[in-house]
Amino acid sequence: MRLIIKPTYDDCSLWAANYVAYKIKSFRPTAKKPFVLGLPTGSSPMGMYRELIKMYREGKLSFENVVTFGMDEYVGLDASHPQSYHHYMQENFFKHINIPKANIHIPNGMTKDFTAECNHYENLIKQYGKVHLFVGGVGEDGHIAFNEPGSSLSSRTRIKTLTHSTIKANSRFFENDVTKVPTRAITVGVGTIMDADEVMILATGAKKAKALHQAVEGSINHLWTVSILQMHQHGIIVCDDEATAELRPETVRYFKEVEDGKFSK
Ligand code: GLP
Repeated sequence: MRLIIKPTYDDCSLWAANYVAYKIKSFRPTAKKPFVLGLPTGSSPMGMYRELIKMYREGKLSFENVVTFGMDEYVGLDASHPQSYHHYMQENFFKHINIPKANIHIPNGMTKDFTAECNHYENLIKQYGKVHLFVGGVGEDGHIAFNEPGSSLSSRTRIKTLTHSTIKANSRFFENDVTKVPTRAITVGVGTIMDADEVMILATGAKKAKALHQAVEGSINHLWTVSILQMHQHGIIVCDDEATAELRPETVRYFKEVEDGKFSK
């Protein structure tokens, strides 16, 4: 695992955007061989999206041959609902860049047949071969996508019931009214994320300190689904100083020194 520790949220956003751009460019994607990118919603990736849009506007990056898979979507919110993840992705990223509409994939939370929708989503990913880079955030309780505590660590795309903790945390987007937050979501599975060539998780702010501690220093445990990253050959966590509050000083020092290149000098 690589743990990238930066002073602030903005530094994390820039690092993450530069990494996404570097992966896309070095892949040299074409229409026949697109770069497949998994993408999250939430407050964590907002800064990264801003930086990526900036790169596109400055002519430094194209999304013409990038295919995206959204991590999740609330059940019962249609694409026009301001809190749907379709809406979030459109407003915060897609409408500002040159990605073809046909290259965008997000689970349909309005489906009548959840099993068919989830299987279809998994099959779509398979049709492209695999996800090259899955970017994610992490919940305060350590969930990735909507893989809540207790999710199978080999799960695939499916419907999940949200925990009280997630509903409460996400109520900030629903006028702080927990009754307005959908109680279920379609989410890629932990296994779906783990199948990607690389996984990059963004964890910023003091509220993520416990989750980061469990992810890096805890044992692999389905109660903290982010901890499965320890099993990935190319897992990266990008965090700010605040989020490291519950890590051991030795852990912080070690990962900082590795990234500073201290050991290769
Ligand atoms: C939601 C999403 C996750 C996201 C998490 C953290 O529950 N399903 O994908 O990572 O919230 O959100 P935030 O980045 O706003 O803290």
